[in-house]
Amino acid sequence: MSITQDDLKRAVAQAAVAYVPVDCIVGVGTGSTANFFIDELARIKHKIRGAVASSEASAKRLQQHGIEVLSLNDAGELSVYVDGADEITRHLHMVKGGGGALTREKIVAAASKKFICVCDSSKLVDVLGKFPLPIEVIPMARSYVARELVKLGGQPRLREGFTTDNGNLILDVHNLRILNPVELETTLNHIAGVVTNGLFARRGADVLLLGTASGVQTLTV
Ligand code: 5RP
Repeated sequence: MSITQDDLKRAVAQAAVAYVPVDCIVGVGTGSTANFFIDELARIKHKIRGAVASSEASAKRLQQHGIEVLSLNDAGELSVYVDGADEITRHLHMVKGGGGALTREKIVAAASKKFICVCDSSKLVDVLGKFPLPIEVIPMARSYVARELVKLGGQPRLREGFTTDNGNLILDVHNLRILNPVELETTLNHIAGVVTNGLFARRGADVLLLGTASGVQTLTV
């Protein structure tokens, strides 16, 4: 029987549980890999105090498992944040936001001591940008931000029919070859009307658990 992408996601989710300290509040990401992690977390729910979710969808899944969901304001600093990525490099810089949860993901990651990224091997790349870079934008700034993104060499496309948990829009930027993610993340943050961009380079992951056909590999910087 051949190994599926879901098998790899489940394997990294299981491996991530080892990074969750007893009696802690866990930061939880969004997406299909994060969902596997939530399902694994349910098995040890008696050992944790609860979770802070990076999206309404993850909050719902956590609650369905009987895991208490706390607000970040009540939880304070978190010891660990576990989330997937759309692309990741060996420097543990990421593109995230394929699920549109980038802003809350960036906030919860920033408030966590350790970021554990869980991915199947298809997400590991040499250069970021093949996956369109998501940018969360205040609705009235959509056209202005799109023009600024074109000036930077990208091709922004509005994510049709999608509104973020924060009530904003997503522009997915195609055709970027991101050779300096830290610099581009900073540049994008300075465009008026941009709430968050999907580059997680200034605060990248601390550990990558990469699911491969030969097992889970652990990469650190
Ligand atoms: C959601 C994200 C996800 O982490 C990213 O899209 C990866 O998702 P998946 O695990 O389903 O491949 O950033 O906003």
